Amino acid sequence: MKTNKYSFTFVIMLEKILLPQVQQFIKAHEKEDPFSLSLKYKEVAGLPIKVVAEQIAARQKAKNKLPEWHHTEGIIFPPLISMEQCSSEASAKYKSTLISGRTLIDLTGGAGVDTYYLAKNFTEVHYIEQNHDLAQIIGHNLRMLNVDNLEIHECTAEAFLERLKGNVDNFYIDPARRDNQQQKVFRLEDCTPDVLQLLPQLLEKGRQTLIKTSPMLDLPLAINDLKKVKEVHVVSVDGECKEVLYLIDHEGDPSPKIITINLKKNGTSEIFAFKMIEEADAQVSYSQPKIFLYEPNASILKAGGFKVISGKYRVDKLHQHTHLYTSSDYVDNFPGRSFKIIDIIPYNKKAVARLVPEKKANITTRNFPDDVAVIRKKLNLKDGGNKYLFAYTDVDNQKKIAVTEKT
Ligand SMILES: C[S@@+](CC[C@H](N)C(=O)[O-])C[C@H]1O[C@@H](n2cnc3c(N)ncnc32)[C@H](O)[C@@H]1O
Repeated sequence: MKTNKYSFTFVIMLEKILLPQVQQFIKAHEKEDPFSLSLKYKEVAGLPIKVVAEQIAARQKAKNKLPEWHHTEGIIFPPLISMEQCSSEASAKYKSTLISGRTLIDLTGGAGVDTYYLAKNFTEVHYIEQNHDLAQIIGHNLRMLNVDNLEIHECTAEAFLERLKGNVDNFYIDPARRDNQQQKVFRLEDCTPDVLQLLPQLLEKGRQTLIKTSPMLDLPLAINDLKKVKEVHVVSVDGECKEVLYLIDHEGDPSPKIITINLKKNGTSEIFAFKMIEEADAQVSYSQPKIFLYEPNASILKAGGFKVISGKYRVDKLHQHTHLYTSSDYVDNFPGRSFKIIDIIPYNKKAVARLVPEKKANITTRNFPDDVAVIRKKLNLKDGGNKYLFAYTDVDNQKKIAVTEKT
């Protein structure tokens, strides 16, 4: 692994973080509030408490997001902004199932999480990062994690691509989604580097490129802008949509395959795939709620597979714009949440009080004029309990409440 341009003071600081006294302090205070610690102590073994407190805050974030790194001795956690921007272990592992080959160029290395998991499927890996200090930390961490097929390049993606001679198997790019004021952005042209600017070079020099984007970015718009999209992967972790990945190559596909995946805590996953054209052509049947109610997972909702899901699982849709589904026979492999309907009632306090005397319920809205806070107030309901209320517009355009319980 090659690195260069070491800053002396920075290296001293990194070495101090790894001192046994500092590591012991970090582990002993791992569950404490980093801010309170920074008020209570001045330094630990000559290292300013601010640096130590930042390590503790980052470790707390890593506990669920990056369990393998959290368990590994000698890891130096990068600044919190990089910890926030990096992929989780679960989503990085998923990405590593999508690409493999001889050479991988990760053009926006960041915290190195994606680099680390993707590196397992490549002979030769290049980590590119414009932030000098970050590249130093990640170089150290990847050594701690026994990565031996990696070269670190402290430069911009643009400069690296400009210098790159010949062709490579795969580029990976996960642009920074913050502007100069550190505000969140998601449009491709607002992120850095700008993938759309780099696109001609990526297509010319790479066999294929995997691009990670925010779920906020409109899928059809991105497919149109990226031109040669072959596959789209919409990734959720425990029901929350975290990222959308676009795989591009020289040919692309006029109707890319959309793969939706929900990675669950228990290690299982829900996968549902369809083609854009199938969704456009799909016929859907609508009905009033029957015995069971289904809510597709966040990846399917993000991907817009509203009609194909109805045909594939033989469930009826409640309304063209209400993305809830129903059936008489239970569909046990539906990718999302499933409920048994207790009753369907009008949207008023009296009707709800009769069915929810405990005055406590979990509320979801779909195609409904009031938001959850307003509904809670109007229906006098607290959050929680075993009942799940869906406020929706039905096939006859009536505002209704489905009172349900989990199957
Ligand atoms: C979202 S983070 C990448 C996170 C990474 N995939 C991970 O899982 O740890 C984006 C990174 O790109 C870097 N970056 C932004 N513009 C860049 C550019 N033009 N060239 C190289 N790196 C850049 C940022 O410094 C930041 O560390």
